[in-house]
Amino acid sequence: MIAANVEDYRLLAKRRLPKFLFEYIDGGSFSETTLRNNCADLQTIGLRQRVLRDISTINTETELFGQNLKLPIILGPVGIAGLNARRGEVLAAQAAQEKGVPFCLSTVSACSIEEVRSQTQDPLWFQLYMIKDRGFLNAMLDRAVEAGTKTLMFTVDMPVPSSRYRDIRSGLSGGSMFRRQSARMLQSMMSPRWAWDVGICGRPHSLGNVAHVLGKGAGIDEFWSWMSKNFDASVTWKTLEQIRDKWKGDLIIKGILDPEDALEAKKLGADGLIVSNHGGRQLDGALSSIRALPPIADAVQGDIKILLDSGIRTGLDIVRAMALGADAVVIGRAWVYGLAAQKKQGVSNVLDILGNELRVAMALSGCASLKEITSDILVK
Ligand code: FNR
Repeated sequence: MIAANVEDYRLLAKRRLPKFLFEYIDGGSFSETTLRNNCADLQTIGLRQRVLRDISTINTETELFGQNLKLPIILGPVGIAGLNARRGEVLAAQAAQEKGVPFCLSTVSACSIEEVRSQTQDPLWFQLYMIKDRGFLNAMLDRAVEAGTKTLMFTVDMPVPSSRYRDIRSGLSGGSMFRRQSARMLQSMMSPRWAWDVGICGRPHSLGNVAHVLGKGAGIDEFWSWMSKNFDASVTWKTLEQIRDKWKGDLIIKGILDPEDALEAKKLGADGLIVSNHGGRQLDGALSSIRALPPIADAVQGDIKILLDSGIRTGLDIVRAMALGADAVVIGRAWVYGLAAQKKQGVSNVLDILGNELRVAMALSGCASLKEITSDILVK
């Protein structure tokens, strides 16, 4: 099958991935209502068809946190994305770099920040969770600086992992907390071919950023166990002040869905926020991110940058999000489906598809540049 869009990449990924891995990426929490609404609500937003406005050149470039982006897209942090292809995060970061957009590495990646950095030239974005082990947290911030990172996403919508039924059924996690999972069991959930492909033969190929904390000989069971113990549910805005003080680069608060929290992020001195419900993986029943966006944009009044994720699958969605006040969008599953289906080429193709669709959507709604995408282009 030749993939025409991101949904086709989803189907290719489903064919290729071990079942538990596909379910981990594709799934959401509880009955997955928010997961579904993220995409469904985007599709209800109508765009005005405008004609005869000279759209012979379409400019999709933008500037964000001092960086020039060829497209208003950031590859968002996805935990253990590196299990989807050998050295997966390195491949995705390289694809992003070639297409002129940023890649944000997750705290819980399979490849370490040093490894990804050594294989790319562009500044890497980094995502951090509030980790109970503050020694690790502070060292991680130093490692990010050392790796040349200037933009930090701090994720606030995961004080505890949510209930994800698909992961419980597949055996990946138990209840609302990660269960100790043995490397042997994880391997047994993959075909030998897949385990060989991604480099998990005998021992996991890498435990990313936390490898040194776990020590020599640690496997994926120790990795899960460390993660489950280290989400810090006691964090408050006050705690975040310490991060703001320590981090001299741009700070983006990821996981804002409420205008009051958006104002807190602004008060904290964040440089940006991400309107996000973690791709429908945390509070089921929470607003879709596109519905949460307009009141947040109203509240912050352009004082800090607004990104949006959760549900972006097409270039039309990018136009919709920008028309409602986003400066750019973050994609999660879209790039991971590409990676799982066709490794680095798959990520490149997904970015090409989204870029082409964005240009078409802009042309047909009469916008030659991203600045022209305003609420004016929406069907009221
Ligand atoms: C995520 N997301 C996420 N976010 C984060 O801050 N740190 C992480 O480690 C992860 N891990 C993760 C794993 C998987 C499998 C998914 C699907 C998502 C959330 C991610 O950054 C982003 O918010 C959503 O994926 C956006 O929704 P879409 O684009 O997937 O619909």
